[in-house]
Amino acid sequence: MKNLSKTAKKILKTNRRKGYTLPTNNKLYPAQWNWDSAFISIGYSYFNLEYAIKELETLIKGQWKNGMIPHILFHEKDDSYFPNHKTWKCGNSVSSSGITQPPIVATALKLIITRNKLNKNQKKRVILLIKKLKKYHDWFYKYRDPKNTGLVSIIHPWESGLDNSPLWDSSLKKIKIDKKLSYKRRDLEVSNSKARPLNSDYDCYITLLNQFKKLNYNPNKLYSNSMFNVVDIGFNSIFLKASKDLLEIAKLYNLNLKDLNKKIFKTESSLLKMYNKKKNIFYSYDLKNKFFINIPSISNYFILFADLNDKKVNKKIIESLKKYNQKEKYIFSSIKPDHKSFEEKRYWRGPVWINTNWIIYQSLKNKDKVYAKKIKDKTIKLIEEKNFFEYYSCKNAETLGANNFSWSSALYLDLIYESN
Ligand code: GLC
Repeated sequence: MKNLSKTAKKILKTNRRKGYTLPTNNKLYPAQWNWDSAFISIGYSYFNLEYAIKELETLIKGQWKNGMIPHILFHEKDDSYFPNHKTWKCGNSVSSSGITQPPIVATALKLIITRNKLNKNQKKRVILLIKKLKKYHDWFYKYRDPKNTGLVSIIHPWESGLDNSPLWDSSLKKIKIDKKLSYKRRDLEVSNSKARPLNSDYDCYITLLNQFKKLNYNPNKLYSNSMFNVVDIGFNSIFLKASKDLLEIAKLYNLNLKDLNKKIFKTESSLLKMYNKKKNIFYSYDLKNKFFINIPSISNYFILFADLNDKKVNKKIIESLKKYNQKEKYIFSSIKPDHKSFEEKRYWRGPVWINTNWIIYQSLKNKDKVYAKKIKDKTIKLIEEKNFFEYYSCKNAETLGANNFSWSSALYLDLIYESN
């Protein structure tokens, strides 16, 4: 197989703008995305530490006064994207969306600073980043878990990072679609509609967006009024892992984040209570409509990423993961292929994504080295066969979505270069 590290670096450099990196170099995503940037910064850390730190600094520059880091930052007022800054109409120092995304930034920062030697100036900047990330995590606890349950909610499918996953289908069916809805999708001008979310999904996304705008993005009102309020296992697992990582890196710089320790403890025990022993799975929960979300998604296995202190449960979940894609040549499909909601080519309803493979690989490194290695090798092989696409079919690795995709490139670099 060819080593594609040169190409990966070139993609990242080509997609880079002023201090941040686009998810891809076509017109599909002309802005900075939250979790994309976190993954991207890990890739940069192997060949340009300055770019890595800058990527996160630019992201955190968009932090709202209340602590939230938005899911999209519109540094350039590019109207070719929908929904753009004119639709959202919000942001503090940078125009942004009014919701967040899986908070994997602290985890990325930990990987970057523990694998590199930082100079004095970089250390100073990292300390500032840690303080701002603490504010971000506090925002989650305050506004996304106001009843202090230990688990945080997402209030829009876009916040999950897995936009049109079947995980959200039943919850979205309960939404009253805006009657006067009028908008024009721009993604279909540059991407194949067969591999993108449906218009009926977009109707829900925009109805929610309009609701949030009407509420002036007041975080208390968003939590209590949003027509979508879900405790997502994948999201909470990433949040817990990132909180643990934040605490660890704070210690490296003698920063005292004691209150975070207690919160981590609570989230950990609340997450464990979500374990369905009979079915051997962690299901997400629709808080608004009060039902468990019984869909076999790869993100249910992010629970392993959270590093729960329960070896027995972890072991059982790994056993289940090993059966998840038994018949497929390419792993991991976003939805289990034998489930009725599975669609081979449609975005988060079936295809293989590099970032979810990476999360699962990271989760297994300290739990099942042999299996972890297998996942890593298969992911590298898929990219080396097919290049850096946004997503792929699990049946035949057909390439889907955008080419020259930034996080696929960045995480490839991590997989081939990582030493711990
Ligand atoms: C889509 C994906 C999301 C990603 C964004 C930019 O919205 O669902 O996870 O962050 O595109 O790549």
